[in-house]
Amino acid sequence: MDLEQLEQLFLHRQSTREFSSRPVPDELVERICSLALLAPSACNAQPWKLVAVKGERKNKVAKGLQDLGMNKFATDAPVLIAIVEAKGNLSATVGSRFKDNDFTHNDIGILTAHLVLAADAAGLSTCILGWRNEEKLRAPLGLGEKERIPTVVALGYAAEDYPIRPKKRKPLEEKFTFLPDEA
Ligand SMILES: Cc1cc2nc3c(=O)[nH]c(=O)nc-3n(C[C@H](O)[C@H](O)[C@H](O)COP(=O)(O)O)c2cc1C
Repeated sequence: MDLEQLEQLFLHRQSTREFSSRPVPDELVERICSLALLAPSACNAQPWKLVAVKGERKNKVAKGLQDLGMNKFATDAPVLIAIVEAKGNLSATVGSRFKDNDFTHNDIGILTAHLVLAADAAGLSTCILGWRNEEKLRAPLGLGEKERIPTVVALGYAAEDYPIRPKKRKPLEEKFTFLPDEA
């Protein structure tokens, strides 16, 4: 893949809030998750697990994403993939404390990016959902009461004619600086 193709992928990936009812084959969900799990993590701790749901269980999970009338479309997504924090390893935990740097959140963000981009490359659409109620999510996801679920990704085929929106991003000058060589 060259840079132009990567750019196309980045521009094509967007938060999709209208899904078709076309089912996603289980093997494709597993394949996308297995690619996402190639994501890097601090000390290779991989402090995560992915839990995919569909059907009736997915409808129950969707309820944990809809407080205050938000994310109504989550019910129409054929698959929801919960990103769950998991124990990392000793080096990452010690490093996090010493450097006052929450590696787990970084790692989970990278995993999520891998997941949504892999899905897009497979012709699917996604929406990352951070507006969630962890208490409501845990039981239908089969998780323990202390397990954390930073985000859930809605996955499916976009509704027919769902448009690709131009990206709205702040100007490069505001967000990127290349400092002169001389310090
Ligand atoms: C951590 C995170 C949480 C998000 N939570 C939600 C959410 O709960 N509901 C929603 O509709 N979109 C959510 N989004 C999607 C953002 O609104 C979206 O990524 C942003 O507006 C940029 O648009 P784009 O993804 O189409 O490029 C979330 C995105 C991220 C990265």
